[in-house]
Amino acid sequence: MVSSSVPPATRASASGRAYINDELARKAWAVLSANNRSGYTVPSPELFPFQWNWDSPLVAMALAHIDEERAFVEIETLLASQWESGLVPHIIYHVPSDGYFPGPEVWGTDRQPPTSGISQPPIAATCLRYIIEMSADSDAALKRAAPLVVNLLRWHRWWHEARDPEGTGLVSILHPWESGRDNSVDWDEPLNAFEPVVDVSKLRKDRLHVDAKQRPSDVYYDRVITLIQLARSVGWNDLAMVQSSLFRVCDVGVQSILVRADEDLMALLRLMGDQAGAKQVECWHSKSREAIDRLWDGEAGAYRAFDLRAGKFVPSTSATAFLPLYAGAVDETKAKAIKELCDRAFTLCIFAMPQVMPDTPGYDPDNYSRGPTWPYLNRIIADGLSRYGFRDSADRLRSDTQRLIARSGYREYYNPTSGEGLGGDQFAWTAAAWLIWAGLVEKEQS
Ligand code: SER
Repeated sequence: MVSSSVPPATRASASGRAYINDELARKAWAVLSANNRSGYTVPSPELFPFQWNWDSPLVAMALAHIDEERAFVEIETLLASQWESGLVPHIIYHVPSDGYFPGPEVWGTDRQPPTSGISQPPIAATCLRYIIEMSADSDAALKRAAPLVVNLLRWHRWWHEARDPEGTGLVSILHPWESGRDNSVDWDEPLNAFEPVVDVSKLRKDRLHVDAKQRPSDVYYDRVITLIQLARSVGWNDLAMVQSSLFRVCDVGVQSILVRADEDLMALLRLMGDQAGAKQVECWHSKSREAIDRLWDGEAGAYRAFDLRAGKFVPSTSATAFLPLYAGAVDETKAKAIKELCDRAFTLCIFAMPQVMPDTPGYDPDNYSRGPTWPYLNRIIADGLSRYGFRDSADRLRSDTQRLIARSGYREYYNPTSGEGLGGDQFAWTAAAWLIWAGLVEKEQS
């Protein structure tokens, strides 16, 4: 396990990539080294001191440029905590820490190491494919990846079946944290539709690390912990959770990330010669890719989350509206509408892309998922824009991200107007996002 703040010379020179000499990249590597624990990387040492599901593979993608061994270990450690059902939990509490709420005792999932009971956007297959493609010895990398691909197939099955028991092609999330955009304006209506049964304001630890103005409200916390209690009361049983949850939403982000990851998982299975597995994923992929169209809100002229309990679209447009491009699921007319939305967002802020459109009621440029710009989301939005040939827009996201990081360091998120750094500090996936971007540019130029 590498722990120094300097990347291993052999690997770096073997790859022939000079980008690690760039000042921002050097600082990013220092963040990933400082946040390195035995077998995984914490998102932010004080605020988030455990392993998080979608942060971890993203960090692994960045590591693939400089330390392939650590990249593999990151994903191996994550998938080692997979449940029998196929679920890969969103937090793995490898070591105790009293600086975070909710801890394992709130989830009561009875696992070792302790885990939460919900999942997060399934980006790992996409990251694993990237690691293999970056490898100097892709045959050896593919061999090492084989057991992980089996885990990923089980996880994707879990999403397509346990979170879509009716087989509609649209998967649902049962907790806002499963979207990775915890307190997005998107979740206001679905969350406000029920009353919380707990008051956890005195148990919260997040405001010890981050200014309260940048974190969710107390009543939000009461509601999300109410959802955890309810799921716990049905023993974390998938079907019972779907039937009883007070929150059930189809998120454009999760759906798009899953569809893209299906595509990457299919490619991995084919490379491994598992035609039956590839065929299975192909079925899921084509159905779920087509289903993205049902998340198009014609009235709003944008992709929006659909609240299954209320039977209607949420009344907000988020940065996830761009992600159907990343999934490769958009026709020409809708691609044009997305591009227009993107151009509009560019005129509304200085540092794109805000988490929700700035003219949305409830937009808050300083509060977590309610407005600030997230470099990692920028990275995948840009991936989708490039996929559809919108190179200029992708480049703008890259340069805005670079300016943010140069101005305010590796923060969790940033004010889209002032560029002020917000949320957690020393943030691993912000560092990872930049390393991936810098590495890709280097690759294209070589
Ligand atoms: N991001 C969450 C938190 O703020 C949990 O996934 O605690």
